[in-house]
Amino acid sequence: MAEKILQIRNLTTGFLTDQGVAKATDRVSMDLEKGQTLCVVGESGSGKSVTALSVMRLIDFAGGVIIDGQMLFNGEDLVRKSQNDMLRIRGNMITMIFQDPISALNPVFTVGEQIAETLRIHKRMGKKEAWLQSVDMLYRVGIPDPEMRAKQYPYEMSGGMCQRVVIAMALACNPELLIADEPTTALDVTVQAQILDLLKQLKQEFGMSMLLITHDMGVAAEVADRIAVMYAGAVVEEGTVQEIFEQPRHPYTIGLLQSIPGLHSKRGGELYTIKGAIPPISRIPSGCRFHPRCPHVMDICRKEEPPLKSSLSGHIAACWLDETGGMDKGRNEPNLQDVHERLTADRVEANRS
Ligand SMILES: Nc1ncnc2c1ncn2[C@@H]1O[C@H](COP(=O)(O)OP(=O)(O)OP(=O)(O)O)[C@@H](O)[C@H]1O
Ligand code: SF4
Ligand SMILES: [Mg+2]
Repeated sequence: MAEKILQIRNLTTGFLTDQGVAKATDRVSMDLEKGQTLCVVGESGSGKSVTALSVMRLIDFAGGVIIDGQMLFNGEDLVRKSQNDMLRIRGNMITMIFQDPISALNPVFTVGEQIAETLRIHKRMGKKEAWLQSVDMLYRVGIPDPEMRAKQYPYEMSGGMCQRVVIAMALACNPELLIADEPTTALDVTVQAQILDLLKQLKQEFGMSMLLITHDMGVAAEVADRIAVMYAGAVVEEGTVQEIFEQPRHPYTIGLLQSIPGLHSKRGGELYTIKGAIPPISRIPSGCRFHPRCPHVMDICRKEEPPLKSSLSGHIAACWLDETGGMDKGRNEPNLQDVHERLTADRVEANRS
């Protein structure tokens, strides 16, 4: 069996709200195999970042708390680590890149100094060695004239260039696991494609595993080996990229797939949207948490939470339709090949403009 680098088991986290402690994630489980990419997808507020911040144990500093569960990193439970232990793990074995590259960089230091500092702290390199290594990292993330760029400040660079610097900083210590939280969302479409390609290439080169968070199913189709779909703090479906795109089992996943531009609507035509909105953590509905928005809702859905059921291949979903066999198999679901073609066409167009 493939080796797992990360196993999240029943992770339940909470924040203090006006109504008391509310769960931001509820019994979240997901696995990441060594060398693979797991994408966590879901609309805004579904608990993707809270899950990532929990793995980094940064949730403790964001006013949240891990209520229950395990997060096994190479078999060791991160939940049980002290923040002192985490200082050694974060930035060294596990690193994270965030959505907004500008705010991830310190404006008063040059980018070369910032990468070198990471190497001096975690790899105990001397000043000169760390500087040379940071210039080399800038080269490896595709920054032209890295010797000159290393001496520049973040404000002297474009957003795409800053995200490359952030990636260089995250990879400088050769981490085993890279967590990327919406790494391309703040960038324009041409740069998004370049950064995604860069992440894919570097993952191979550095032999890393990647947990990539995105609200964009198109991005997941491009980079994922497996996809975990989150809704209102829970994983509602998990499977390989083929399973999720070609045999989706949860109505929420199907809604997300139908919302991909161009797959179910003509270009410029009306885009499918899932009706309603994700609930706040203090008002998670009873039964199936997706029931107020689900086009297939049944009586049982309002009362009882559907169990997560796994197929033999490990494709997991939580929906009562699985029990009744009522899922409409005749629907015209998007096919992975279509998604790739759509994205390639968008990319060619973006490169032209
Ligand atoms: N510090 C906090 N205090 C209270 N609630 C919080 C806090 N941080 C997050 N939440 C709540 O937890 C839920 C999950 O948030 P999270 O940031 O993980 O969503 P997300 O899936 O990353 O969304 P997005 O796509 O917008 O980044 C949301 O309802 C959010 O309002
Ligand atoms: S359990 Fe019911 S409400 Fe929930 S997704 Fe399935 S059919 Fe819809
Ligand atoms: Mg987020």
